[in-house]
Amino acid sequence: MNTAATFSDSWLARREHADQEARATSPTQAAGTWLATRCQAREARLVDLGSGSGANLRYLAPRLPGPQAWRLVDHDAGLLGHAVGRCQPLCDMDGTPIRLTTQQHDLNAFTTDWLTDVDLVTASALCDLVSAAWVEALAAACAQHRCAALITLSVDGDTRFCVDGADATDRDDAWLFATLAAHQHRDKGFGPALGTAAPQALSTAFSDREFRLVDAPSPWRLGPAQRPLALSLLDGWADAAREQAPEARARIDRWWQRRREALDQRRVDLYVGHRDVFAAPEPDHGPR
Ligand SMILES: C[S@@+](CC[C@H](N)C(=O)[O-])C[C@H]1O[C@@H](n2cnc3c(N)ncnc32)[C@H](O)[C@@H]1O
Repeated sequence: MNTAATFSDSWLARREHADQEARATSPTQAAGTWLATRCQAREARLVDLGSGSGANLRYLAPRLPGPQAWRLVDHDAGLLGHAVGRCQPLCDMDGTPIRLTTQQHDLNAFTTDWLTDVDLVTASALCDLVSAAWVEALAAACAQHRCAALITLSVDGDTRFCVDGADATDRDDAWLFATLAAHQHRDKGFGPALGTAAPQALSTAFSDREFRLVDAPSPWRLGPAQRPLALSLLDGWADAAREQAPEARARIDRWWQRRREALDQRRVDLYVGHRDVFAAPEPDHGPR
């Protein structure tokens, strides 16, 4: 059975602005310092795994020193096509246009060779889909090639509805979010998915290899301006919960109805926890 998760371009576009606002600055800044030290004047070589339509590249390229050559990897040729269309022209922080190539690959085929001559591997909103073994393979490949990693927007399970920053708990939130967390551990094409355990698995895999970590929260804070995204998340969560606990359909429907009304009437905002992590091999290597 094909368990691969698919993502529409419209969904990725809907979340892009919230992702940009959520990103933690310290891991990205640490990645910039790493690239500047390691590459100095030569072109930095970067790979974005599970790139989708290029949102991570659009965020990172102007915040990192150049010159930069990017390789975007995804199994979805349609999304890669959108990425090419929307990422050119795109410049680094010094105003130099980046170079861009794409590769249609299944990330299950990831091997150490993928990081040969790569300075920085990046991924956003990917690592909760993959398995613990896949993260171990990524960290091992980074260690072998002395390559750094910037892995962003991995869900951490800290999800809540709030009013003016204070929790606004519904009686079924905790149960629903536990059901959702169980669904997030289902196979998304890589074996049992890390889901909300992704941030911890990344920290462990890289710190076990003596990488230096810069780790920070990058939550979505979805207020009135992000209501369409919050509503579509809510619908997706209810669908996932119905799949995970079909016997509890009526309870899920009632929860969904209450939460939808609260969002529609602007009575609550939504907080969805993520984490960003930068991991660099120590000691830092100079230019190669
Ligand atoms: C949640 S999306 C994130 C996309 C993009 N990084 C972003 O932040 O907008 C996950 C991406 O991983 C890709 N993906 C999922 N499973 C994959 C696999 N087995 N091989 C390659 N790409 C995969 C999807 O096609 C999708 O583009």
